[in-house]
Amino acid sequence: MRLLSTSKVKIGQFVGRPIFSENGNLLLGKGVKLTKGLIDKIFEHDIYFIYIDDEISKGIEINNVVDEEHMAKFVTSMKKVMDDAIFGDKNKNVSGFVPLETFKIVQDLVKALIENIMSNKDVLYSVTELMGTDMYTYKHSVNVAILSILTSKSLKYNYKMIEQIAIGALLHDIGKINVKNELINKKEPLTDDEFDEIKNHAKYGFEIVKKDVALSAYVKQIIIKHHEKLDGSGYPSGIESKDIPEFVRIVTLCDIFDAITNDRVYRKRIPMYKALEILMTDAVFKLDRNIYRHFVENICIYPPGSGVKLSDNREAIVVKYRREYPSRPLVRIIDKDDLKKSYDLDLIDERTIFVENVIELDF
Ligand SMILES: [Fe+2]
Repeated sequence: MRLLSTSKVKIGQFVGRPIFSENGNLLLGKGVKLTKGLIDKIFEHDIYFIYIDDEISKGIEINNVVDEEHMAKFVTSMKKVMDDAIFGDKNKNVSGFVPLETFKIVQDLVKALIENIMSNKDVLYSVTELMGTDMYTYKHSVNVAILSILTSKSLKYNYKMIEQIAIGALLHDIGKINVKNELINKKEPLTDDEFDEIKNHAKYGFEIVKKDVALSAYVKQIIIKHHEKLDGSGYPSGIESKDIPEFVRIVTLCDIFDAITNDRVYRKRIPMYKALEILMTDAVFKLDRNIYRHFVENICIYPPGSGVKLSDNREAIVVKYRREYPSRPLVRIIDKDDLKKSYDLDLIDERTIFVENVIELDF
C-alpha cells in the first residue's frame, strides 16, 4: 500500500484504505478498482491523497493510531458538538454554554479516543488522509485531542487528567463558532483587523464555557490560554510561562503541529519532519522543551507508504518505520524505468545514506 496524490492516481488502480466523505459516510471501500468516475468523485470531495494497493507497494502495511472509520465517526461527532454549542448574548444577559446532551457526546468521544489509543499501544501518530477542507476545524480538534492524549500519556499523567486534557483539546477552538466561516476559510492574506477577529476565538471560547458547570477549570484554562506562549508573545493576554500550566502547553504544541501538517485553503501542508524542526526551534523560547521531547516519541516522521528522496538522489517508498531509529527506516528503492527492478534497502545497514526529503510519488 502507498500514498498517492489524487492527481496522480490512475484508472484501474485499487483503493488501499477506505475513503470517507466529509459527513462521515463511506465513499469508497478498500479494494475498489478505480474508474474515471470514481476518481472524479474523490476530487469532488476535496480529498487530495489516497492509499492505493499495487505490485510495487506489496507488503507495506499502514497502521494508524485511530483508523479511518473511527476517525470519520469522531469528526462527525465533533461537528455536532460545535454546531450545538451556544454563544451567549451579553445584551440579553444570556451566557454561552455547551448543552448537557452535547457535553455527553464530548465525554463519550473522549472515552472512545482514549480507549482506541490505549488499546493500540505501539502505534505511532501520522497524519491521516481524510475528508475535505470543509471539515477542517472538526478534524483538527479530534487530531489535537489524539496528539494531546499520546503526549500526556508519555508524560505519565493519570487517566482523570488525560481525560480533562482531551476534553480541553477537543473544545480548544470552540470559540470559532462565533467567527465568520468566510474568515476562517479565506484564501487571500488576512487584514490586521481580520486576523485580530480570528485571534478573538480564544476569548469567545471562554465566553461560551466560563459559566458552564459541567466543564472543569482545566478545560476552561485550555480554551482561553491555548495560544499563549512561554515568552509572552502569544494571545489573548500575552501571559508568560509561570501563568501557563503544563496541561495547557501540551495542547498548544499539538495544536501548532496539526495546523502546519495539514493542507489549508491558503497554504500547502508542511511534511512532518519539517514541522518537528519548526517546533523544536520554537520549543527553545515559546513552547516547552520537555513536552516536545515526549511529543516526538509518538510521531511517525516517515510514514510507511509515503515517498522519500535519499541523499544519493534515489527515490524510495518507506516500507517500515522504527520508533527506536526514526531517521533510519526500511525503504524500497524505486527503479522508475522498470518498477519490477525495485528493491528494499535498510537504512540501518547503510549509514552513509540518509533521508533527505519527503516527496510525492509521481507514478
Ligand atoms: Fe485556536
